[in-house]
Amino acid sequence: MTLPKKVKIVEVSPRDGLQNEQQLVSAKLKIELIDLLVDAGVRYIEAGSFVNPSWVPQMATSDAVFRGIKQRQGVTFSALTPNLQGFNRAMAVNVGEVAIFTTVSESFSQKNINCSVDQSLKRFTPVLKAAADKDIPVRAYISCVAGCPYEGNIDPTKVAELAARLSEMGCYEVSLGDTIGVGTPGNISRMIEKVAEKISIQNIAVHLHDTYGQALANIYASLLMGVSVIDSSIAGLGGCPYVKNSQGSTASGNVATEDLIYMLNGLNIQHGINLEKIVEAGRFISKELERSNGSKISIALT
Ligand code: HMG
Ligand code: MG
Repeated sequence: MTLPKKVKIVEVSPRDGLQNEQQLVSAKLKIELIDLLVDAGVRYIEAGSFVNPSWVPQMATSDAVFRGIKQRQGVTFSALTPNLQGFNRAMAVNVGEVAIFTTVSESFSQKNINCSVDQSLKRFTPVLKAAADKDIPVRAYISCVAGCPYEGNIDPTKVAELAARLSEMGCYEVSLGDTIGVGTPGNISRMIEKVAEKISIQNIAVHLHDTYGQALANIYASLLMGVSVIDSSIAGLGGCPYVKNSQGSTASGNVATEDLIYMLNGLNIQHGINLEKIVEAGRFISKELERSNGSKISIALT
C-alpha cells in the first residue's frame, strides 16, 4: 500500500459548512470567505447549492454568491443541484461544475430529498443530459455510506452498486459520504474496496464527517487505498440538516481542512494549500459566526 504523492481537496465549507448553521449568512460574507479560501491556495470550492430555499434557507443566497464570485484561472466553484430546476438556476449564474446527491438509505433519501433512491436517479437523468449538452462536469455524492441514522448499518455492496450506476450515468467522480461520521478505518476500507471493484479508485472521493473523531484515521486509511480526492471544511464546519441524532441536534463536523493539511504536510503529500492562511480563514469564519473553532490545529497553533 502506497500513499498518493498529490491530492485534490474539495473545500465544502461555503455549502456543507454554512447549510448547517442556525443563522443565515449573507452572500457578502460567503464571498469574503471564498476569497480567503482561494488566497490560501484552495482550488476546488463547493460554493453553494440550488435546492428548494424553503428546505435549506441558508443556501437561498447561492444565486447572489455565484453572481458575486470573482472567477479565477484554475479555480473550480461548484454547487449542489438536486434536480433540473436547480441545475437551470445554477446555469443562470454561470456555475462551472455541479454535484448531484443521493444515498443508499431509503429513509434518509425521503427525509433529505423527498423521494426514493430510484426516483432521485430519474431526477438526475435530465440534469446529466443538460450538463453533457453544456459540457458541465458532474460530481456525485452518496450519503450515509458507513451508517444511517434511520436504518443503521449499510451494506457496502449497495454503496458500490450505486456508485457504479452514478458513474455509468456520467458522473466523473463519486464522493462517498460518511454523513454521520460513524465509520472507522476498518469498515471505511472495506467499503472503498467494494466500490473500487466497480469504479476506478481515481474516480472516488471521500467525504468524512468527524462526529466520532474518526475522520483523519479514515482519511489515512483511504489514502493508503489510493484515494486522492478528499472533501473537507475549514474549522470543521458543517453537517446535513436532515440528519438528527438521538438528542435532536443535526449531525455535525466535517473533517477540518486545517487538520487535514497538517496531516498531509506530515505525510509529504502535495495539496497546494498554505497552512497558516487556511488557519486564518477558519478563524475568520468562526469569529464571524461566533462559534467555537472545530479545528484542533487551529487551537494548537494559537
Ligand atoms: P420537492 O418538494 O419534492 O420538489 O423537493 P417538487 O419538485 O415537488 O417541488 C416542490 C416545490 O419546490 C415547488 O415550488 C418547486 O418550484 C420547488 P412551489 O410550486 O411549491 O412553489 N423547487 C425548487 N425551488 C428552488 N430550487 C430547486 C427546486 N426544486 C423544487 N432546485 C428537493 C425536492 C430535492 C428540491 C428538496 O427536497 C430539497 O431542496 N432538498 C434539499 C436537501 C438538501 O439540500 N440537503 C442538504 C445537502 S445533502 C448533504 O448535506 C449531504 C452531503 O454533504 C454528503 C454527506 O455529507 O454525506 C452532500
Ligand atoms: Mg456533508
